[in-house]
Amino acid sequence: MKSEIRTAVFPVAGRGTRFLPATKASPKEMLPVVDKPLIQYAVEEALAAGAERLVFITGASKRAIEDHFDSDPELEKLLESQGKSELVRQMRSVLPSYATCIYIRQPAPLGLGHAVLCAEAAVGREPFFVHLADDLIDAEVPCLKQMAATYAFHRGSVLGVEEIPRRDTDKYGIVEVESSRAPISRMRSIVEKPKPAVAPSTLAVVGRYVLTAGIFDQLRQVGRGAGGEIQLTDGIARLLHREAVYAHRFAGKRFDCGSKLGYLQATVEHALAHPDLSHTFRQYLLHLSRNLPRTPARRPGKATKGATARKTRRRA
Ligand code: UTP
Repeated sequence: MKSEIRTAVFPVAGRGTRFLPATKASPKEMLPVVDKPLIQYAVEEALAAGAERLVFITGASKRAIEDHFDSDPELEKLLESQGKSELVRQMRSVLPSYATCIYIRQPAPLGLGHAVLCAEAAVGREPFFVHLADDLIDAEVPCLKQMAATYAFHRGSVLGVEEIPRRDTDKYGIVEVESSRAPISRMRSIVEKPKPAVAPSTLAVVGRYVLTAGIFDQLRQVGRGAGGEIQLTDGIARLLHREAVYAHRFAGKRFDCGSKLGYLQATVEHALAHPDLSHTFRQYLLHLSRNLPRTPARRPGKATKGATARKTRRRA
């Protein structure tokens, strides 16, 4: 059955400050997990959920993303001449021929809500996916596909959510739902980064959304919120007073690749699952773990506790 959600929006205009200096001249979404950049995992998930129109909200230093999804006849010719036809096949399959890419420049990083609003002209009045590539989710059924099925049934916006430890509520948008045990439940409220003591639940929003076009009407009216940015959370908080919005606890494992630790975890687990690497990488890890010192060696001049505290996420 053809999906009724045809457009996926990828906001990639953030500054990626947690990965500086790696992200100074190259976008965070081009960081590779083993041999594919994060943005390619994102596009593959959206295509698997039925998207055909891919809208990238780009900012400064994002040319690499356009280049990645463009064909490169010269490189293909070189690889052909070297007999590397499997690599040529892989390069060509980065994007299927039926998919269209649209690039829209966000004039300044004014927040995730503003980035989504920049997609309005390309999306029109249809429901659409929003995918934040730095949340990498491994799932038997791709996360957006699970959420598209929820949209098809409930006909309302859907947010991907997961349980988090209470101490972390001030790093996420937190939702209050009608039925806290149900895998899919209508939302009552959403609040941006509440302190653990006052958080209405421990259900956190991750970087997957199905949104109705009603979100644009709300985002146009919200002013700057937390951090001086136009927050997607604030738009959703308004939307759920006008339309039903659902929280969906997706089945799958999420890696927060916007943080160094999450990115390293994703790299290790994907390497362990990679057909070319799994055996030798596993041997290497076993050897390494047997020889790891009990306490980390101190490196002179490195940041100490506190200076490395994790920056909180800005998203809904
Ligand atoms: P983050 O909160 O992860 O911010 O944005 P960031 O700038 O990418 O990274 P850090 O926190 O400085 O390390 C969540 C998502 O929203 C996009 C980002 O690209 C990321 O996918 N975003 C954020 C925009 O597209 N525009 C913005 O103005 C802000």
